[in-house]
Amino acid sequence: MRPAARCPDPRENDPLPLTQLLRRLDDFGGPIPLRALERLLVCFMPEPGELQPYERFDDRRYRRNSVRETAWYEAVLICWLPGQRSPIHDHRASACGVRVTAGHAEVTDFDVTDPARPRATASRRLGPGEITVSFDRDAHRVAAADSPLVTLHLYSPPLRAMTTYPDEPV
Ligand SMILES: [Fe+2]
Repeated sequence: MRPAARCPDPRENDPLPLTQLLRRLDDFGGPIPLRALERLLVCFMPEPGELQPYERFDDRRYRRNSVRETAWYEAVLICWLPGQRSPIHDHRASACGVRVTAGHAEVTDFDVTDPARPRATASRRLGPGEITVSFDRDAHRVAAADSPLVTLHLYSPPLRAMTTYPDEPV
């Protein structure tokens, strides 16, 4: 995964509440390029309370709350309690953009040249409003830092399957 650049298109600098973000995504009517997901996430600015219906946590594991799914994209709000984390995974054939909406995320990238032994290559902490993007074979892991974490994920096409890798030995 890599951090997103700032949006280069001034027309995209209008803040996008969730309803407009989804409308823009609907307008594509086909697979959405990673760059476009990134630009839309940069401009995303939810109205107060707009995400609340999707903010659902689970004591047992991070929880995926579907916001919208079409033939071409999927928007998911993922809620993580402190210490909860994803497996090491990639997204097969889906482009993915992630924006932190609350809390802090620890994002770690992995080299999976040997799929049985993933090797961490980089790690960073993302705060509210920060974005990261990845494409199909980028292996990574997301974890909540020390407070509840909420992240909005856009996948195109919808995430039908992930490749997961064994966790690092501890
Ligand atoms: Fe991911």
